[in-house]
Formats: sequence, structure tokens, C-alpha cells
Amino acid sequence: MNIGIDQISFYTSQYFLDLRTLAEARGVDPDKYVIGIGQSKMGIPPPDEDVVTMAASAAFQLKEQGALDGVEALLFATESGIDQSKAAGMFVHGLLGLPERCRVVELKQACYSATAALRMAMGLVAMRPQSKVLVIAADIARYELGSPGESTQGCGAVAFTISADPRLIVIDPESGFYADDVMDFWRPNYLSEAQVDGKYSTLVYIKALKAAWTQYAEESGRSLDDFARFCYHIPFTRMAAKAHQKLARGISDEELENVIGESLIYSREAGNCYTASLYVGIVSLLDHCAEDLSGKRIGLYSYGSGCVGEFFSGVVQPGYHDVLLTNEHQKLLNERMELTFQQYEDIYHYGIPTDGGEHVFPQYRTGPFRFAGIERHKRIYEEA
Ligand code: CAA
Repeated sequence: MNIGIDQISFYTSQYFLDLRTLAEARGVDPDKYVIGIGQSKMGIPPPDEDVVTMAASAAFQLKEQGALDGVEALLFATESGIDQSKAAGMFVHGLLGLPERCRVVELKQACYSATAALRMAMGLVAMRPQSKVLVIAADIARYELGSPGESTQGCGAVAFTISADPRLIVIDPESGFYADDVMDFWRPNYLSEAQVDGKYSTLVYIKALKAAWTQYAEESGRSLDDFARFCYHIPFTRMAAKAHQKLARGISDEELENVIGESLIYSREAGNCYTASLYVGIVSLLDHCAEDLSGKRIGLYSYGSGCVGEFFSGVVQPGYHDVLLTNEHQKLLNERMELTFQQYEDIYHYGIPTDGGEHVFPQYRTGPFRFAGIERHKRIYEEA
């Protein structure tokens, strides 16, 4: 049975900071961010946007397409959890009006958990081929102000449905995966900024990639030549480029651009979306690739610090253009508002009140849903 991604949708916040603005404020050469890191802008969520509203906004576009009919499970991948007990997906379930007959759970393993969700979703669909699973990955990448990680912040969500005979990508059964208990990147429950051993994290990312790829190649018998394109986990776009250069030693700049370039366009605009990043890359590839990818195989690498890496693949399906939401994605990015540096820092410092009182949040621009406030420690969401 063919199982895979039936339809996919991307959402990021309506506000961004240009990395040249950040560079000027921090006294850094802008080329370091734009060329060395490979990022142009970073999505900044206003106080009334969080992983729930971004996730619901991404999935809402699928709902409008009728793609959520038949969904029996919602798997929510995030490392920006909002509650120690209640799954963020429960709020999304309510906002989207999903059926009561629905399994809902939150998954965590840094940026990897959306791929774990995809694999679990495939298992559920294999057991009940008439059903669908909605997978949502949503995150806010946040580091300390003035730290090396600051320029790699961002935010966004990707929602996709997993079904039998999918219209977009059939996921291959072969896979290479790797785990190692390391401290390259983490966020203790009492901190709102990630801690990171930056250089080390890039080395572990590559080590996990090599191990996962070697295993995948042995299991599948495929070589790099069997892929039309590659999509990587994208903490910043230069990382994906370096990763591919490690696998395809001696690759020319032109060929590198050809096999990964289209997958990096949205990430350069939105910044790191953690769990969603690989999937933002897939959306970006499908939305931008001028070549017809029907029947072509794409290589996929998912990485979550801590760490787990998985190399897997999928075959793009004939007619895939008909289910793309390219116009919606491009409209969203084109209509975002640019923040000044002062506005960025003000939003950064806007902490969620923890006193148990009643708080109403200022209304910014969001998608169809907003995080309206908090009351007796309960988060309140509403239609925008
Ligand atoms: N013009 C052009 N390039 C310049 C430049 C200039 N003026 N100045 C510097 N550069 C280049 C550097 O040469 C370097 O390129 P190379 O790596 O090819 O040598 C690049 O810009 C970055 O410069 P630095 O290495 O000096 O940057 P840094 O140490 O200040 O920060 C970082 C880099 C450590 C990755 C930091 O951004 C960070 O900590 N980021 C967060 C962690 C992260 O994203 N890790 C990725 C792997 S872990 C993962 O993938 C999970 C996840 O999502 C977090």
C-alpha cells in the first residue's frame, strides 16, 4: 500500500525582522548573517501568536480544501510546548472543530519529532487505510539576545495529512536512523530561551547525517544519483548546504544550488521553525521547482538535537501541482510587516503573565486564530 503526504500547508507569523537590521544593531557585518549563515529575515511572533495559533492557521488552510475529512488522529510535534500536561493539539482540535472520534497527542524530540509523527501516522493509516492523520509541526526558535544563536531565530508551522494513495508524496519504507545522548542544544523547563553549544551542534548534525545516510543507502541500495532533490532540516540555510556538501563531496556550487536551492527559499524568509523546518523545506521545494518532479524521488533528512537523525525519502506523485497551496504561502510572506529593531526587542521582552490573574493581550495581526489572553492560568484562544 502506498502511504504518504496527501496535502501540506505552511504558516508563519505576520511580522519579521530583517537580518540586516539585526546586524546593524549588533555591530556585525550583515554579510555574516546573509551569506555566512544564509538567512535574510526571521519570523517574529507577536504576543497573541503562539504554536497553537500558528498550527491552527496552517491546518485551517487544509480544512478549507476539505483535506481534513476523515482525520482520525492529530499528532502535534513541537519543542515550544505551552503546558506540561495538556497537549497543544487539544486547543487546535477545538479551534478546527475536528471530530470527537480523534486521537490527539503531542510529541517531543527537539526538531525531529515531526518525522516521528509522520512515521507513527503511516502506521495508523496502514492499520486503517480509509483514515487520515493530521500531523502538525509548530515552533518558535528563540535564543538569548546578542547570543550567536540570535540570528537563527524564526517561527512557523507546517500541517500535513498522511493518507493511503496520497496526492503529493509517497514515503518510501526504507530509512536510516541514528540516536545519541548528547548536549548540543536543549531548553530546561524553567527557561524560555534555548541553550546551545553552537559549533558542537553543527558537528553532531553532520555526524548523525552520515550515520543515517550510510544505513539508508545500505538498506535501499540507492545512491545520491537516485534523487532529483534533497530537503534537509534547516536551522539556517548554510547548514543545509554544508550538510549536502558532506554527502556529495566535491559537488559544484551550481549543482548544489540545483539540488537544494528551491528547498531553502521559505526558510531564508521565516528562519528556523525547529520541528517544522524540514517540512518547510519540502513546501518550498514543491512551490518553487520549475522542473516537473512527478515520479521523481527526493531525499529527506530530519535532525533533532539531543539527538536523533533520520534519512528517508519519498516519490513525488503525478498531478501534485493541483494540491499545492503556493499562492496562499506567497501571499502570506509578501504581506508580512517589517519590525523595527525596537519593536523586535519589545516583543521579545513581552512575557506571558504567570500570576494567575486575568490578562488580555494586545491585538496584532495574526492568521484566522489568536491567543487572546490568559485567565486563572488557562490560555484563551479566539477567532481573529
Ligand atoms: N561575510 C561572509 N561570511 C561571514 C562573515 C562575513 N563578513 N563573517 C562570518 N562569516 C561566516 C563564517 O566564516 C562562518 O562560515 P563557515 O561556517 O563556513 O566558516 C559563518 O559566517 C558563521 O560564522 P561563525 O561560525 O563565526 O558564527 P557564530 O559562531 O557566531 O554562530 C552558530 C554560528 C554557532 C551556528 C550560531 O548561529 C548558533 O549557535 N546557532 C544556533 C544553533 C544551530 O542552529 N545549530 C545548528 C545545528 S543543531 C540543529 O540543527 C537543531 C536546531 O534546529 C537548533
